[in-house]
Amino acid sequence: MPGRTARGPIAVVLGTRPEIIKLARITQLLGDDAHIVHTGQHYDANLSDVFFTEFGMRPPDTHIGVGGQTRGAQIGNGTTALDDLFTSLCPSAVIVQGDTNAVAAGALAANANGIPLVHVEAGLRSYDRRMPEEHNRVIADHLSDLCLAPTALNVANLAAEGIGGDIVVETGNPIVEAVERLMPTEGERAELARRFGVEPEGFVLGTFHRPENVDDKDTLANLLTSLASLDVPVLIPLHPRTQKRIAEFGLANIAARLHVVDPIGFRDFIGLGAEARLIVSDSGGVQEEVSVYKRPAVVIRRSTERHEVEGTFVQRFEPGPDLASHLAEELKRAPQRAVELREVPSPYGDASAPQRSVEAILALVERTL
Ligand code: UD1
Ligand code: UDP
Repeated sequence: MPGRTARGPIAVVLGTRPEIIKLARITQLLGDDAHIVHTGQHYDANLSDVFFTEFGMRPPDTHIGVGGQTRGAQIGNGTTALDDLFTSLCPSAVIVQGDTNAVAAGALAANANGIPLVHVEAGLRSYDRRMPEEHNRVIADHLSDLCLAPTALNVANLAAEGIGGDIVVETGNPIVEAVERLMPTEGERAELARRFGVEPEGFVLGTFHRPENVDDKDTLANLLTSLASLDVPVLIPLHPRTQKRIAEFGLANIAARLHVVDPIGFRDFIGLGAEARLIVSDSGGVQEEVSVYKRPAVVIRRSTERHEVEGTFVQRFEPGPDLASHLAEELKRAPQRAVELREVPSPYGDASAPQRSVEAILALVERTL
């Protein structure tokens, strides 16, 4: 590898809320070997700083300000800035996680510098090419020297694209450790629900940010109206993308029928999730973590890359005119589903994923030095 004559730090590239949550433990296990690079894609304190604090992570070593830019600029400017950084830092490996623009930038910059690339949460596939995330994760998987796949299905997806052998290690998903580490106790959760003005088991928790749900006025109006038609309070920590669209489309009057708050910390979010009668979302991470705290969820998406939880923890519906009746039906059967789900194991493994990931990363560094 050109320019890599000594063991440099391991660069951990992250940019958004879910990446911070899922890379927290891995970064901590790497200790002083890690150099944390924040691309700045998420820049509000409640989408970024709050998670560093909650997980006890040290602040990023390097910050790149690509927040609020277009996808092309986030990837292009991110790649250029990371290219500069890697030239001076000479990392012994670069770690990216998931499917955001930070992942594409980190993967391209590592590849351009001949630095071994590690993709955490490799092998997920929706085969839905309308979503930027599908392209980001395919780029990362195909450039990676180590694909850390959460499940056997993810390993099989990679094999179908010719990615296998030593490059692929099945680890489970680091979200399991994150949930187990920060889940509040039952007493704390009851208090938490009261603080948010809802009753345990007596509310719906929602979160949305996918362009397919929020970037079109009629679709977003239908989603908000459908949620408002439910006969329990709907608590929504509102993602900034959705906040902006509600203002732009003049939908504040419908949103006012919901219990809308600013985005909240991870501990509060999973604590509320564990007390909600039903979770309604389009989030990737939320789909995974309901399988750890065993609550029923409805996912509103045209496709999924998380097939492992479909039909058990997750019922998926496409955005559309039938949404209100689907939600009402799912809310009615949620208590029975919650009982059934108690015995269903999470397909995402146990809390050992971060440790297994770090062992595989250090082995890669040893063999590529
Ligand atoms: C991004 C990821 C998505 C991930 C999500 C996690 C891509 C293509 N999308 O979507 O995969 O699921 O993060 O939440 O990488 N904004 C703020 N404050 C912030 C961050 C964003 O106001 O702290 C605004 C931006 O200015 C922009 C909008 O929210 O107007 C969308 O932000 P962006 O990071 O482009 O995409 P997300 O929808 O957050
Ligand atoms: N989350 C949070 N606070 C919130 C909403 C979500 O901490 O107000 C957490 C949630 O528990 C999950 C993660 O954020 O772990 C999911 O992030 P997001 O939905 O933004 O991204 P995705 O997983 O869809 O890429």
